[in-house]
Amino acid sequence: MTATTLSPAVTVDKLDRFKGADLHDLCDATDLAIKDGGGFGWVEPPEREVMERYWRGVLAVPGRTLIVGRLDGVIAGSAQLVRPPPNNEAQRYTATLTSNFVAPWARGHGLARKLVEAVEAEALAGGYEILQLDVRETQTAAIQLYHRLGYVHWGTNPVYARVKGRTIAGLYFYKILRQSGQTTPQPADEAPRSPG
Ligand SMILES: CC(C)(COP(=O)(O)OP(=O)(O)OC[C@H]1O[C@@H](n2cnc3c(N)ncnc32)[C@H](O)[C@@H]1OP(=O)(O)O)[C@@H](O)C(=O)NCCC(=O)NCCS
Repeated sequence: MTATTLSPAVTVDKLDRFKGADLHDLCDATDLAIKDGGGFGWVEPPEREVMERYWRGVLAVPGRTLIVGRLDGVIAGSAQLVRPPPNNEAQRYTATLTSNFVAPWARGHGLARKLVEAVEAEALAGGYEILQLDVRETQTAAIQLYHRLGYVHWGTNPVYARVKGRTIAGLYFYKILRQSGQTTPQPADEAPRSPG
């Protein structure tokens, strides 16, 4: 008899509250991603209590949407959409994709791609036209992912982060999700106006 390998079910969903083992699984996934060097800011895993507080905070704060990715129902990664604050009228069409990660055991199944696509759909549904994000230069898989999904690398900050005593550059990306006709920079808009 030939053994068949079943592909795991890869799904993403927007999380409004933690149910069942969700919070536990999300913390486990985060912990493993941090230990692997891809902890969206964390360099060392914090105490479980601190991490749980962080994730509960993500659901509680306004202007943030949490998308989780699952392999066979178990949370294995996530991404967040952050909306501009109401006072930021000038950037009211620009949202931020942040904290995208997949646990090492769940990589290579297309989960990150689905997470980013779900964040994009959520941004579009909210009326946003542009997504921006930044990533450490050492996160080569993520950089490849964003290039693949049509993100434009527009700048690099050479002193973006410090990890274990080493200064690391950061890459800044944007993607135009929907053309409103006003998103192309208009130099005349920036030029100082002459009086009268
Ligand atoms: C980057 C990361 C999220 C990818 O997760 P994943 O679920 O394995 O990615 P996917 O299977 O959805 O792959 C989608 C695309 O990403 C790119 N990619 C994924 N893994 C890659 C790797 N090891 N090397 C190069 N490119 C890779 C590829 O372009 C791939 O598309 P393709 O298979 O059509 O070529 C994951 O490796 C991770 O969590 N890394 C550490 C955290 C991190 O860097 N987060 C980003 C901070 S913004």
